[in-house]
Amino acid sequence: MTYTALKYLHALTVAITLALFLLRGFWMLIDSPRLQARWVRITPHINDALLLFAAIAMLVVGSLNPLQQPWIMAKIIGLLAYIGLGTVALKRGKTRAIRVKALIAALAVFAYVAAVAVTKQVIPGVAF
Ligand code: HEM
Repeated sequence: MTYTALKYLHALTVAITLALFLLRGFWMLIDSPRLQARWVRITPHINDALLLFAAIAMLVVGSLNPLQQPWIMAKIIGLLAYIGLGTVALKRGKTRAIRVKALIAALAVFAYVAAVAVTKQVIPGVAF
């Protein structure tokens, strides 16, 4: 697969992960049983695996080293934070207040990671 094809796959799975997260976040907010549906619990994992596959394949094909490219390291750390906060928001958060705060924080981290991707700067808009 070419770098460009991987980048399209990455961007597509990024859009899908956001759409699925917003949908599940909405179902969490209205206490919908649809959050527990089998496809709702499985599909995001398949999509996120594809997202990560495309990201790592781009690093290999494009000879990008996260240790030499701080913006990539920032994205990896951001992705881990997004996954952790997302789990608290949709599953682990004990109270509704905790889940809502985690949902907002996860979306903020997601926006940060997307801004890092577009600007290739650890602090988007600020070049070091
Ligand atoms: C929440 C997680 C992530 C989001 C929202 C995200 C978002 C994006 C977006 C929107 C682009 C396209 C940027 C453009 O228009 O040029 C992109 C590109 C890219 N992402 Fe991600 N990404 C995520 C995770 C990752 C991770 C974990 C890695 C590395 C392991 C990664 C590596 C890359 C690379 C190498 C590119 C291509 C940059 C280029 O050549 O222009 N991404 N990402």
